[in-house]
Amino acid sequence: MKKIILGFGAISLIAVGAYFFFGSGGATVSALSDLQLRYAENATPSDPTQAEIYDRSCRACHTDKESKAPLTGHSEAWQTRMNARGMDGLINSVKNGLETMPAMGLCNDCGDDDFKRLIEFMAKEAS
Ligand code: HEC
Repeated sequence: MKKIILGFGAISLIAVGAYFFFGSGGATVSALSDLQLRYAENATPSDPTQAEIYDRSCRACHTDKESKAPLTGHSEAWQTRMNARGMDGLINSVKNGLETMPAMGLCNDCGDDDFKRLIEFMAKEAS
């Protein structure tokens, strides 16, 4: 009897461990607060030209936590990238494409200035 109880104990410990290990998703994603997720869903650049570009290109991925893209309003994720490559490096990543982000981020008529403004908008902390 004691053995059985111990056995159950071990199995439930493994189950709890597996839940935390497999169930919690990527570290970046689990660090997002509800406010950040809501902001990512709703935020739009105030400038109408930027808003139009954002809506037809960047928004699809940069508001989707499954896409592995740094989310709009998740300033910490953007700051890490900014520290590693600087604004020019980030603009180059968009132009050349990065992993699943297509070259030009789906905005073929965008220039460096557009990308810079879109990055600044997305990198601003959710509020
Ligand atoms: C099809 C999905 C998709 C679209 C559309 C998209 N992105 Fe991305 N973007 C990603 C993903 C995924 C990453 C993370 C890539 C990685 O580091 O693995 C990313 C990363 C970035 C980065 C960080 C690059 C770096 O060097 O770390 C910038 C800047 C960026 N995107 C800007 C934009 C802008 C601006 C637009 C719109 C003009 C845009 N993206 C459109 C998916 C997308």
